Amino acid sequence: MNQTAEEPIGRRHFMERAILSIFGAIGVMLTPPILGYILSPVFRIREDLSQSTRWAPVAPVSEMETVGDLPRTFDVPYRVKEGWRVRETSRQVYAVRKGGELALFSTFCTHLGCPTAWDDAKRMVICPCHGGLYNNFGEVIGGPPPRNLASLEYKVENGVVYLKDPANVYEVGWKDPRKRA
Ligand code: FES
Repeated sequence: MNQTAEEPIGRRHFMERAILSIFGAIGVMLTPPILGYILSPVFRIREDLSQSTRWAPVAPVSEMETVGDLPRTFDVPYRVKEGWRVRETSRQVYAVRKGGELALFSTFCTHLGCPTAWDDAKRMVICPCHGGLYNNFGEVIGGPPPRNLASLEYKVENGVVYLKDPANVYEVGWKDPRKRA
């Protein structure tokens, strides 16, 4: 008699434990991906800092010594971390000597961000989009640009000139579209 009364209770305990075990196992399996998802921004920031180029080599100092008071364009290769992948890319900068001092400035027009080019014949930097004009030091001399071409920070290390934060092409003052609400 007692045995038949205990049997359903034992079966119920077994079922409860089995269900708890199944949910426990599912919880254990799901915890790492959920934690990974929650913490991924932290890791992404650390990866961004470690895998994106913070200082990109522009040219050896010996080559920069040949730069005069007319701007020369340099291609600057760098890496940028985007989500899971690292992209190799490059940008251009102007180098010019102003009062004997080397200066680097952006090639992006301060009106709407078009890439500009130095015109040797006209002796000015020209923006093809709306006719923005700058002199050899990147100062506005005509057209719609609201300010001079942005000066860029650089350092010299082991005989090489490095550009700071090459991926920051938003230095011209227009808004970074990635930060728009
Ligand atoms: S973007 Fe250069 S003048 Fe408009």
